[in-house]
Amino acid sequence: MSAVGRGDRIRRVLDHLRNETTDEFSAPVPLGPGVYTDPDVARRERDLVFGRVPSIVAHAGELAEPNAFRTLRMPRNQVIVVRQQDGGVKAFVNLCRHRGALLEEREEGRCRLFSCGYHRWSYNTDGSLRTITRDSTFGDIDRSEYGLIELPVEERHGLVWMVDDAAAKIDVAAWLGPEMDGILAGYRLEDLVVFRAEGFDEPANWKLMQDAFVDNYHIQYAHPNTAGKHVHTNVQVVEDFGRHARMLSPRKKIDRWLEEDPGERDLGRFVIDGHFLLPNSTLLRQPDDHFELLTFRPHPSDPGRCRMEMRLLVPSVEASGMDPEKWRLTWEKNWEILLAVLHQEDFPLLRAAQRGLASADAAGMVLGRNEVVNQIFHRELGKLLAG
Ligand code: FES
Ligand SMILES: [Fe+2]
Repeated sequence: MSAVGRGDRIRRVLDHLRNETTDEFSAPVPLGPGVYTDPDVARRERDLVFGRVPSIVAHAGELAEPNAFRTLRMPRNQVIVVRQQDGGVKAFVNLCRHRGALLEEREEGRCRLFSCGYHRWSYNTDGSLRTITRDSTFGDIDRSEYGLIELPVEERHGLVWMVDDAAAKIDVAAWLGPEMDGILAGYRLEDLVVFRAEGFDEPANWKLMQDAFVDNYHIQYAHPNTAGKHVHTNVQVVEDFGRHARMLSPRKKIDRWLEEDPGERDLGRFVIDGHFLLPNSTLLRQPDDHFELLTFRPHPSDPGRCRMEMRLLVPSVEASGMDPEKWRLTWEKNWEILLAVLHQEDFPLLRAAQRGLASADAAGMVLGRNEVVNQIFHRELGKLLAG
């Protein structure tokens, strides 16, 4: 499917609202509870999904300066991502090659070299081994053999992507495919700034979480007094690009155009353009062109745990032309609302779901035709797991 213009998608969503319909998948599909609880499924996902395909680890602005670094726990590796002197980005296994200490314990920072706390070996930010302490007694080794282990990483569309396997290759454009690559290019995410970013370690499977953030069927039921007041429930226009998907959801303010013909008027401010980026991200384009980026990463061993990261990407003060204090207050308020919905509404529900799924006699479940993006997510994961 090639990408459809927003005007056409908005006309389609207005028709859905008039007819009480939504885009639909071919048929309901059964879903076993093991998808969310089975350690063997989780192990295969780590290797066959995260060890094979690119996923988002940061916005480029979080590694703006040379030597700026972030550490993170990927499903297979502890990782350091670091901006190079030449402007590129590299990623390494966060592990000292002497005797295996965790090299960098800080979550983020800037440094000219990584220095190990155990016996104080140090590494340049390009990964090369710089210093062996007491080297007159340590003995001769080939230092080029003991640099940091490099992981495949690439910056594209203002985002940093990696494959969590040192032996893998990365090609983000090929992974995105022409439709999604073109869509993301059009947003110029590299020009936005990360107003806030936060990570949450949650006792729920990463897919249970990812499922909730492509789902427009639960809005009025789980969020009756927040999102449910502003966004329609169970109405989505979905473009299935084969791996990734774009899903347009109407806000309730669009309703006046149900009767009145909008003609050529741009109704962009009445819709949310969601994007599901296989394997583990949702990117929401909100009406005034700010974005929420949500990523869900499996725990390295426990299928019942994951880490969610949320980033609020906004136009800079300069680009927005706003008074700096007003700019800060506007986005601060926006962020607080996002956090409140997560902590008070989504997280409690999903934690409880994970407890329920752990029941010995949890039985088969089912995804409906109306849950199109969830269907695409599970269909595509199935393909990756089939190798
Ligand atoms: S383990 Fe890092 S210097 Fe010894
Ligand atoms: Fe939700």
